[in-house]
Amino acid sequence: MLASPVLTALAGTALAADCTRESLKIVADSLVAAQIAGNPALLKPAASILTYNENRKPANFTHSILSTAIKPDHTRHSLDTTQCATYTEFISASGAKPYVNGYQLWLTNGSISRLDALTTSTGDWLFNATGTLYWASREDWGEIPEAKRDSRAVIQAAADAYLDVFSNKSVVVPWGKPCARLEGGAYTGKGGPDDRCDVGIPDGVQLVSRRYVIDETVGAVDVMLRFASLADSHEFRVEGGKLRFVHTITPMNGSPGPSGKGKGKRRAVRKI
Ligand SMILES: *[C@@H]1O[C@H](CO)[C@@H](O)[C@H](O)[C@H]1NC(C)=O
Ligand SMILES: *[C@@H]1O[C@H](CO)[C@@H](O)[C@H](O)[C@H]1NC(C)=O
Ligand SMILES: *[C@@H]1O[C@H](CO)[C@@H](O)[C@H](O)[C@H]1NC(C)=O
Ligand SMILES: *[C@@H]1O[C@H](CO)[C@@H](O)[C@H](O)[C@H]1NC(C)=O
Repeated sequence: MLASPVLTALAGTALAADCTRESLKIVADSLVAAQIAGNPALLKPAASILTYNENRKPANFTHSILSTAIKPDHTRHSLDTTQCATYTEFISASGAKPYVNGYQLWLTNGSISRLDALTTSTGDWLFNATGTLYWASREDWGEIPEAKRDSRAVIQAAADAYLDVFSNKSVVVPWGKPCARLEGGAYTGKGGPDDRCDVGIPDGVQLVSRRYVIDETVGAVDVMLRFASLADSHEFRVEGGKLRFVHTITPMNGSPGPSGKGKGKRRAVRKI
């Protein structure tokens, strides 16, 4: 049966304009489908993507990471109905080439106005997709009962405190007990009650140009930012106002790494 162009257009408008969890999930699922198929055209609504950035650089969506077919072992979405945005974590450990990717997607008036993809593989910051998959799939990022949910402001404040302490040691960070940080494929904890993430935080590093996607139903906020000279994603799970999990994705993108500005990043994990 042929789809009516009018109905299809109406469905497309309703899809993104109302920004429900259901409509955002359809869009985020289509992003994953596009990545699996290696076909950017499967991303819906696809009529126009005004801005596409890959590892914080403007890039051609037709030749984006989505044009490489990648089979995920784990994906997870955050759905931000307030901003009409999504964040997707995508881990592929079992394919010929491993990947850990993160995508922030923004809708405006029913079109994708912005897509920011970070893509990492062997050689990127502490990259180990097997480790990332192992730890990420053991953690509980599930729905938080309504009565226990934090507000968007509280969730963002917890993330900001963590990001601010890299340049200001007076900032009070609401560390959870336990709290675990998954940085590349390295974990600060063991998956137990004594896990902590207040270890190996460097000083004197500015984490700037922050862009947040917040899903209060799961206490999650993803922040895409600039970490010194590096592109970076820090994603947080906040429970009762306190940090429970931190995930980072940092493409090295030909940056100097251990010397120059990459130095701060290296010191960030010297203890793990
Ligand atoms: C992106 O790539 C497509 C296909 O190769 C090409 O037709 C298009 O002109 C490119 N767009 C830009 C902005 O370079
Ligand atoms: C979205 O639609 C509204 C109402 O038609 C319009 O005022 C606004 O400029 C549009 N925004 C963008 C970014 O196109
Ligand atoms: C990657 O992580 C896995 C699981 O934690 C671990 O067994 C493996 O040794 C790690 N590989 C490297 C190269 O660190
Ligand atoms: C550092 O953090 C403290 C505590 O939040 C704040 O009072 C102070 O203004 C901050 N300093 C700078 C330079 O931002």
